[in-house]
Amino acid sequence: MKINIITLFPEFFDNFKKESIIGRAIESQKIEINIINLRDFCYDKHKQADDMAFGGGPGMVMKLEPIFNALETVTGKVIYPSPQGPVFTQKLALDLSIEKEITILCGHYEGIDERVIEEKVDLEISIGDYVLTGGEIPAMVMCDVIARMVPGVIKKESYENDSFFDGLLDHPHYTRPSDFKGLKIPEVLISGHHKNIDNWRLEQSLKRTMERRPELLENREFTKEEKKIMEKLEKKLLNQN
Ligand SMILES: C[S@@+](CC[C@H](N)C(=O)[O-])C[C@H]1O[C@@H](n2cnc3c(N)ncnc32)[C@H](O)[C@@H]1O
Repeated sequence: MKINIITLFPEFFDNFKKESIIGRAIESQKIEINIINLRDFCYDKHKQADDMAFGGGPGMVMKLEPIFNALETVTGKVIYPSPQGPVFTQKLALDLSIEKEITILCGHYEGIDERVIEEKVDLEISIGDYVLTGGEIPAMVMCDVIARMVPGVIKKESYENDSFFDGLLDHPHYTRPSDFKGLKIPEVLISGHHKNIDNWRLEQSLKRTMERRPELLENREFTKEEKKIMEKLEKKLLNQN
């Protein structure tokens, strides 16, 4: 998969492209991250990428010509990270991870000329209800979430067991030692009984989701097993109150 990132600040991505899972995925050619310097597409004498807003106001607006020029060099869906889009989700990332090529267009200052969004942008995506200085960090967030679900980047079971993939939060994890100064791990995890371990994990996932993100359970079609656990958890909760 190829991810193009159009930015006025290409150095932002230097380490991002080298480190950890993303670095290895690039090295093994599972993904390509192509950083496009928007300044290279500013053809005027001063290489000006932004200008004052029509109608006045304090902030600068990113000009449309350089962006139109840069977009001529790419194919596939164009994504504009923006606080005004729907919030990014695991599901959306999964859908995007099967695309051959996508482009993330990083805004800065007040944002980009609205005509780019009207004419060239397929999706506006927010990473949360707050405003960052630019689209570079949101672009990294999106790239990272998408890349780990591109086939071959990490094991499928790894991301499928993570929070949100099947609509639940993940269960707790522990590693050695099993007893650290009296801080013990749940016995079941060293029982060697796989069915019991699976049941414990599912119960923990449901319990956490119920306590921390109950809205995730609202439209869930519970399996038989999940229904049983939910009844048990609800009873426990009633007894506590
Ligand atoms: C200072 S912001 C512009 C905010 C814009 N004037 C508004 O209020 O909607 C500059 C750029 O950062 C990016 N950005 C800021 N917050 C974001 C968020 N929550 N999600 C995704 N991108 C964001 C966008 O690309 C945006 O063009």
